[in-house]
Amino acid sequence: MTVVGAADVDAAAARGVLQVGARDIVTPLARERAREAGVEIVVATPGAAAAVAGDRATPYPSSPVPASPVARPAPAAARVRVEAAPPPVRPPSGALFRRGAPLPPAVRPGGAGPARGTTGRVVVVGAGNVGTITGMRLAEADVFAEVVLVDIDEGRAAGVALDLTHTAALCGFATRVRGAGTVEAAGPADYVVITAGKARQPGMSRSDLTSTNAAIVGDVAARVAVTSPHAVVVVVTNPLDEMTQHAWRASGFPPERVLGMAGVLDTARFQALAALDGSVRADRVEAWALGSHGEEMVIPLSRASADGRPLGPGVDAVVDRARGSGAEVVGLLRSGSAFLAPGTSAARMVLAMAADSGEVMPAAVLADGTYGIRDVYVGLPARLGRGGVREIVELDLLPDELSALHEAAERIRERVGRPAGDAA
Ligand code: NAI
Ligand code: 2OP
Repeated sequence: MTVVGAADVDAAAARGVLQVGARDIVTPLARERAREAGVEIVVATPGAAAAVAGDRATPYPSSPVPASPVARPAPAAARVRVEAAPPPVRPPSGALFRRGAPLPPAVRPGGAGPARGTTGRVVVVGAGNVGTITGMRLAEADVFAEVVLVDIDEGRAAGVALDLTHTAALCGFATRVRGAGTVEAAGPADYVVITAGKARQPGMSRSDLTSTNAAIVGDVAARVAVTSPHAVVVVVTNPLDEMTQHAWRASGFPPERVLGMAGVLDTARFQALAALDGSVRADRVEAWALGSHGEEMVIPLSRASADGRPLGPGVDAVVDRARGSGAEVVGLLRSGSAFLAPGTSAARMVLAMAADSGEVMPAAVLADGTYGIRDVYVGLPARLGRGGVREIVELDLLPDELSALHEAAERIRERVGRPAGDAA
């Protein structure tokens, strides 16, 4: 970190541009001198991930299915120009705020807003372990005006939000982070991530959580429908496939605006585990985790590869370990369940949608007849855009892979049809 003073501005006057580091401190006098001398101060930003604005958006993939469903987003522009004078607050992009939708104060023209041209709001319901990481990744991406964490434990939501806010200079983001006790207090959102509910404890299956979490998710989804009638909802709460279908029904939203996060996580786990022997980087492993988030997880090996080559003989063990990864982490933690990879996965989905990237990611979506499955939420490859699911993408699968997918859909359908509390 360097303190940049008026003398540095004078020295840069001939070039007309003064480049500073993201963590450098530019003194008020230096800013004033820059304004007088017409010197532009340019700050390098660390690690911004994806962007809402077109000039920073992740490029639309040239092939229908990208090399890896959870490959890293294209890096954002390396440098962001900071005006010597306070920048005007840009009106929200019409793309993120549909006509007639109320605008949050942070993005109203002339209102007190973020330092850069960021717009939009994400509400993360549940400020527990997964919600905290989701909020952190979204804030660090620096593409939204505001991230609001909501928890029935309002103090927790406010505390996590403040703690996260304290990282703004360290991580180089201008996103405002706020805590709230209800979705109503959070205000209208473009994207809502539901992580509220109970997490797995050792010895519990995901389905053990059904009755408790159905009440929570149903209530949250119904409230979101009133507060944020145009939002896209990403469900994380377990049991994932059942809770996503439940949230869809409770919200009354069209199916393209309610999807579940599990396939991105399960795929990332497979990629990481396949790379553990050091023969390949995790992000060079291509795979799809489809079906259910549980026993009926389907990882079609005909579609899996490492650096473009088929995976080695130990791949079946990798599939089994990926399928059991949630339980493996629960067993090690002894209290609560995984949160780093889950929170990161949920944020990746939101960022892909906000960037209108057209990326294809595995997600719990309402099957529409593709793959011969209909009217049940199940993990399938989905092309994501600003408004949620653009389309379900059909991969060529071997007959046994396809029948495993059908089996997964039928098991989920049975569980969804079962009264809450009667879970296997
Ligand atoms: P956690 O216990 O750390 O956090 C849950 C939070 O939800 C708590 O802070 C709690 O106060 C809050 N909450 C409960 N009822 C609420 C309500 N009505 N409104 C607002 N907030 C409410 O749990 P964690 O680890 O964050 O997990 C959250 C959920 O995500 C669990 O159901 C877990 O099983 C699931 N999960 C799903 C994954 C997936 O791949 N889909 C992966 C990891 C976790
Ligand atoms: C996981 O897979 C528990 O579903 C959660 O980590």
